[in-house]
Amino acid sequence: MGERVILGLESSCDDTAAAVIRGTPGAAVILSSVVAGQADLHAPFGGVVPEIAARAHAEKLDGCVAQALAEAGLTLDRIDAVAVTAGPGLIGGVLSGVMCAKGIAAGAGLPLIGVNHLAGHALTPRLTDGADYPYLMLLVSGGHCQFLIVSGPDDFRRLGGTIDDAPGEAFDKTARLLALPQPGGPSVEAEAALGDPGRFPFPRPLLDRPGCDLSFSGLKTALLRTRDAVMQDGRLKRSDRVDLCAGFQAAVTEVLAEKTRRAIAEYLVSEPETPLLAVAGGVAANRPIRAALERVAQENGLAFLAPPLRLCTDNAAMIAYAGLERMAAGAVDDMTLVARPRWPL
Ligand code: KG4
Ligand code: ZN
Repeated sequence: MGERVILGLESSCDDTAAAVIRGTPGAAVILSSVVAGQADLHAPFGGVVPEIAARAHAEKLDGCVAQALAEAGLTLDRIDAVAVTAGPGLIGGVLSGVMCAKGIAAGAGLPLIGVNHLAGHALTPRLTDGADYPYLMLLVSGGHCQFLIVSGPDDFRRLGGTIDDAPGEAFDKTARLLALPQPGGPSVEAEAALGDPGRFPFPRPLLDRPGCDLSFSGLKTALLRTRDAVMQDGRLKRSDRVDLCAGFQAAVTEVLAEKTRRAIAEYLVSEPETPLLAVAGGVAANRPIRAALERVAQENGLAFLAPPLRLCTDNAAMIAYAGLERMAAGAVDDMTLVARPRWPL
């Protein structure tokens, strides 16, 4: 397949995004990537409100598409296909994106490609660094946490994953319990940098069990209990808060690092030829977590790839790229494309 120019749309959670990429599988460049967040809209509610998200996506998608095309210096007649997140995610947002993409595809006579949001994250190392298949991927975001052997745009083998909350969700809940702003990841990371990770010994869930499955819901309960024990007159001192954040983050980091060690061992049994660990998803933006995973990769003789921060969190460049790979594999959709709230890889 020659070079293609793909317009991508993403609206499965609380970021409305559009992007244009150009290239071939393993060799694509981002011409533009526009992300309109909704943090302000959801802030008063302490979490993402699905109906508010869906309305905001419906309002913002057109503008994001127009801006992405303008920044790429292209008009729709120069686009080869429209790729859109068709799930998994909040159904109102996914529907908004799919309807918008169908409108563009029908109006401009373009092929339409439905993309799994998780595949978008999982293929990001191919977009950013042209990583060769197969590679081991740790996908850690607000809604997901899994180890995957990625062997193709539709070829994922799951080695394990969370049995309850995703780590990003745990960061967000921790922020809520400690009255820190959402999204919780960056605010907890900033507080943790000032704290003592050893003061509060939080549990390391499932480390005593074999395999690559993880669990994070117990950590949140432990955090709540410890917070209540140190609060005085309903108030939490800043010095306690930074130590709580540091202890929580240290527990998440250690669990992710140890489970990654095990996933690498499994991966190396079946795929010793391409020793690469890549991370993706919003939690991969966390610097101490990234550093710990990089150390684990090095210890085991694997190269390590983490996308730049703006491509770790939700964006449409990864959706456009996954669309490019699907198109190259002949997997094009049509107007019967449906939005899927649940869609395991
Ligand atoms: O990948 P993403 O943008 O959306 C999902 O598909 O879930 O991930 C968002 C999640 C949020 O839970 C956010 O708190 C978390 O990623 N996150 C972080 C950091 N930055 C974002 N978690 C830990 N540390 C960070 N620096
Ligand atoms: Zn995501």
